Formats: sequence, C-alpha cells, structure tokens
Amino acid sequence: MSFNIAIDGPAGAGKSTIAKLAAKELSFIYVDTGAMYRTIALGLLRAETDIEDAAALEKQLSDIEVTISYENGVQQVFLNGENVTGLIRTEQVSDMTSRSSAKPQVRAKLTELQRTLAKKEDVLMDGRDIGTMILPDAQLKIFLTASVKTRAERRYKEQIEKGESCTLEEIERDIKERDYRDSHRETAPLRQAEDAVLVDSSDMTIDEVVTEIVALARERMQTATCR
Ligand code: DC
Repeated sequence: MSFNIAIDGPAGAGKSTIAKLAAKELSFIYVDTGAMYRTIALGLLRAETDIEDAAALEKQLSDIEVTISYENGVQQVFLNGENVTGLIRTEQVSDMTSRSSAKPQVRAKLTELQRTLAKKEDVLMDGRDIGTMILPDAQLKIFLTASVKTRAERRYKEQIEKGESCTLEEIERDIKERDYRDSHRETAPLRQAEDAVLVDSSDMTIDEVVTEIVALARERMQTATCR
C-alpha cells in the first residue's frame, strides 16, 4: 500500500517550496495539484470561456485534457499534450484558477487523476482539499499556514525579484480576497482536516518546516510498518 502525505493551506504559505523539498528528502513523488487547476484555467482563458455559463464551461472542459509527467523529479503539466509548466504562474492565470477551481465540474475533472496517482505511488500532494476530500485516508495530513502579512511580504519580494511592479498593499488585498474565495466556496472549500497537524510557518525558516514535516512522516511511516 502506498504512503500518502497531504499538505493543504492558503496561497503563499510556502506549500510548494516545502512540499518539493520534503518529498525529495523522503523519496516521495511530489504532486502539485494547484498546477493542474492552473492548467485547466489556462485552457479556459485561451478559449475565452465564460465560466459562469455552465453549458459553455462543460463543453470547453470536454476539450481540455490535463496530464502530468516528471522530468528529473520535477512535475511537468500538459494541456492537450503541450507542456505549459512555464505558462501557468501569471497573475491572469492565478485569478482565473481561483475562480474556475470553485466550479464542481472543474474539480470533478481532476479528482480521479489525483486519486489514481496516490493509489499507485508514495506521494506528497499539496493543494486545498487533499486532506479533506481527495485523500481522506492519507497517513499524514499537514495544514500549512502563515499570517497574511508574512505571506504578502514573501510574495512581494518574489514579484519585485521578477521585475514586476506592484505594491505590498495590493498583494495583501489580493491574498485576502483569494483566501476568502478559496475558503468560502461551496465546493471543496479550504479548511483544515480534523486530523491534520497545524504548522504555522510565519516565524519558521523553510528548513525548519521541512525538518518538522519529514520527522512527522518518518514517525508515521514507522508506526505504519510496526502494525
Ligand atoms: O496552490 P496554487 O497557488 O498553485 O493554487 C492555485 C489556485 O488553485 C488557488 O486559487 C486554489 C486552487 N486550488 C484548488 O482549488 N484546489 C487545489 N487542490 C489546489 C489549488
């Protein structure tokens, strides 16, 4: 049986950086489910789909195929066969992803793909509803968060390094809006699973968080084999 780790939490808590490093240390496959939702959003943007029109959304979704593969251990996402890994991190795609991922039809399209991966392999999967909906039986669940202020400062630094112009206030407002949308939507809202371990990374370094998660995973793996 495969060992599954679910990491959920809001945008900017450091999930993907931490999940990638922890997966590497544990020799697990890292599955970035946000990238899958982003790929669908890119497909919807390209087709200029009105996502509020249920029939148009349904039709467009049937024309979108999302697949993933790994290159040197790094997840690549494909939209109808095209590698779009480098095209899904723009603000426009982030905004569309936040809106389209609230649609049940969009979520249904990815549920199966995510569960199948976790059944076959030892995975560390990050997202918003992994511990609550996708892998309710995951052997370890982490809810990784950080204060809005910390997350805004981190994202601001990233954007400035990328040469994009923005203000800290804009980013903070954006994060609050996205948090609200992600946690108040009807379908699979972001929330901590009852049996998840809460990790607040506001005052922790990346290394400290990775060390904590790896230690928890090793502890649980040992308990699993002792049974
Ligand atoms: O983790 P991320 O920033 O790449 O996620 C992008 C968006 O996708 C974000 O608005 C939340 C949504 N998402 C989701 O609804 N469910 C997931 N399992 C992963 C991401």
